[in-house]
Amino acid sequence: MKVRSYNIGVIPGDGIGPEVIQEGVKVLKAVGDKYGIKFDFIYYDFGAERYLRTGELLPDSAIEEFKKLDAIYLGAIGDPRVKPGILEKGILLRIRFELDQYINLRPVKLFEGVDTPLKGKGPEDINFVVVRENTEGLYCGIGGFFKKGTKDEVAIQQDVNTYKGVHRCIKFAFEYCKAFNKKCPQKGKKVTMVDKSNVLTYGHDLWVRVFEEVGEEYPDIQKEHYYVDAFCMFMVKSPERFDVVVTNNMFGDIVTDLGAMIQGGLGIAAGGNINPDGVSMFEPIHGSAPKYKGKNVINPIATILAGAMMLETLGEHEAHQAVESAVQKAILSGKIKDMSAGKMGLTTQEVGDLISNFV
Ligand code: IPM
Ligand code: MN
Repeated sequence: MKVRSYNIGVIPGDGIGPEVIQEGVKVLKAVGDKYGIKFDFIYYDFGAERYLRTGELLPDSAIEEFKKLDAIYLGAIGDPRVKPGILEKGILLRIRFELDQYINLRPVKLFEGVDTPLKGKGPEDINFVVVRENTEGLYCGIGGFFKKGTKDEVAIQQDVNTYKGVHRCIKFAFEYCKAFNKKCPQKGKKVTMVDKSNVLTYGHDLWVRVFEEVGEEYPDIQKEHYYVDAFCMFMVKSPERFDVVVTNNMFGDIVTDLGAMIQGGLGIAAGGNINPDGVSMFEPIHGSAPKYKGKNVINPIATILAGAMMLETLGEHEAHQAVESAVQKAILSGKIKDMSAGKMGLTTQEVGDLISNFV
């Protein structure tokens, strides 16, 4: 067997980040041993501790190093000792922007044996993927204050939508749908675009026009359009409608937290920040959950599934399948009592061991 080798940058980050990343790395090593893949893990200590100690968030040299990696594996960023926004903007968003990871890919998939709060819905109903635009919109950080701190204060936050950014995002969604929606053949191929073009008549008008333009290149794929408020309603009422969903950065952020809940909680929701022509970064959707830090009770499955997505993006399809099915077997073993932190009946490490043994 020819050994394939990858350089993976690992940023354990803050809070429970290091605990979940440890289990994710454990599972990657197990699957690597089995399928002849060698991983070189290069650890980076970016996060709250380093920032509080040195004032440094992410040096330019790190960005240059990241560009030479095959992928990045991230735990979580965020710490109650640091004002909200500083670490998020200075580390997480900076990596997304500088490495031009213009897609945030977030599967909403209910595994067999996992409880969903949606009555009467099962794994055949809850299985779609959200393609979130990841480098524009309200996340650009463009805006400002006028007369700050006075009763006349004006605060402006710009929603930036570029033709290039919208086009490449929608194009990715159609290509992804064409390639991967075999997962649920009974549904047929469908791309759903989610916006608020009835109110945001400039930025989201652009989305509508580009969706039509790109959609014409894919006659075999059904196209559907929802306003974000109605989309939220149908995510709860009839999630089986959806296959590939494409939306902007802000709405994508919000609907994927709702998605995480219907797939069984933040404990198992994973995502990938993808640059199809560059270096991508994989992470659980949950944050750093400071109150669980060091307690060994957090669910590592989200991070492990993010590792599986990394394998898929690296082209290691067999290994990707192996990790997903190991997670499924671990869940069906009945040994994990609940997907939520502190209620699993097993420690974080025991869940990592259980999944590694099924790989
Ligand atoms: C996410 C997070 C981030 C986001 C925060 C931490 C900046 O909520 O990855 O969904 O809003 O994108
Ligand atoms: Mn979020």
